[in-house]
Amino acid sequence: MALAHEASRVREILAAARLEHVRYAIRDIAVLAEQLAREGKEVLPLNIGDPLKFDFRTPPHLIEAVVKAMRDGKDGYAPSGGVDEALEAVRAEAERKGIRNIQSVFVTQGVSEAVDLCLTALVNPGENILTPCPEYPLYSAVLAKLGAEPNAYALDEASGWEPDLDDLARKINSRTRAVVVINPNNPTGAVYSRKTLEAIAGLARRHGLVIFADEIYDKLILDGEPHVSIAALAPDVPTVTFNGLSKAYLAPGWRVGWAVVSGDAAAVKPYVEGIHKLLRSRLSANHPEQYAVRPALEGPQDHVSEVVRKLRSRRDLTVKYLNRTPRLSSVAPRGAFYAFPRLDISGTDEEFVRRLLIAKHVLVVHGSGFGQAPGTRHFRIVFLPDEATLARAYNGIAEFLKGWEQ
Ligand SMILES: Cc1ncc(COP(=O)(O)O)c(C=O)c1O
Repeated sequence: MALAHEASRVREILAAARLEHVRYAIRDIAVLAEQLAREGKEVLPLNIGDPLKFDFRTPPHLIEAVVKAMRDGKDGYAPSGGVDEALEAVRAEAERKGIRNIQSVFVTQGVSEAVDLCLTALVNPGENILTPCPEYPLYSAVLAKLGAEPNAYALDEASGWEPDLDDLARKINSRTRAVVVINPNNPTGAVYSRKTLEAIAGLARRHGLVIFADEIYDKLILDGEPHVSIAALAPDVPTVTFNGLSKAYLAPGWRVGWAVVSGDAAAVKPYVEGIHKLLRSRLSANHPEQYAVRPALEGPQDHVSEVVRKLRSRRDLTVKYLNRTPRLSSVAPRGAFYAFPRLDISGTDEEFVRRLLIAKHVLVVHGSGFGQAPGTRHFRIVFLPDEATLARAYNGIAEFLKGWEQ
């Protein structure tokens, strides 16, 4: 009897309070979409940055390299920092991009793990890191876990979503340890000018900040000059440049990313030691998949040009529709595969996204999920789907907005 009584009283296992600030809107909104899909509705997914969900496939020469590695018995743990072959290829690629003073290179389970490790190795509770607003939410999630403060600096929509350098300078205080620069940017699609990057490097130099340069989209430049790595402009400034196989190399499920630490050797030494301590404590990144890194960076690049060609056409279509839809305005994306249009409506963007999904089965993510500027309303579009799907989705959005109350 007593046992039955005990069993009926559910004792909830509460999640840690630090999770209160962890949000991942990109996946959260997908729960409602899954429900609609279960009801047999065809949902148009413009929400997730996974090329494999659309008409992009992992290049066969990369798959072959991984299969060969498995057949060759590369199935045990890898060295904690990564296999030599991959490390050499990452270093050579960094050098090709003009990065000098390289102090360490290591392979991780995607850029996500590299970000987690590198932030963990740097910040103490109560310190802060400058993160862009709007931002890719991984950074705030990791900072919340560490008891560190996010310290958001504005990206300026009126100047093509370039970082607002005055705001950035104003936000630096005695507890600021680093600045995150996502270029090309998620969620805005901006590609920063050399002048902006030099100015950020100057601020980092003056204030002793580490630069976290997230360059996962560096090969997906849709207009203009080739991408410039901020580390190449400031060889003396401690910089961690992130990249990986998830986007241009079309293998996000393999979970292979890497980081290149550059800057003055004596300055970064203790930090690099801290990072390697953490790398050892989690044993290793995925092993056989690391053998795709060299063929990715040094083998045929035809698939990258093909990806860029498709994305350029889908970006052009996106801009055409966004420009002609009343109540929407958008900066034209120049890199990656995201647009971040502004909504001129009453109500919240979250409400817009939810109701759009229910009414038109178009799935986008609300701007508040990316920490947009207070008082503004946006949503993020992923323009990976083919042109026919995008056109259907954009027509759905236009019709839906026509019916919006005011
Ligand atoms: C800016 C940015 N950084 C990092 C990641 C995560 O990359 P990975 O798959 O290598 O963990 C993403 C994924 O969308 C991203 O947009």
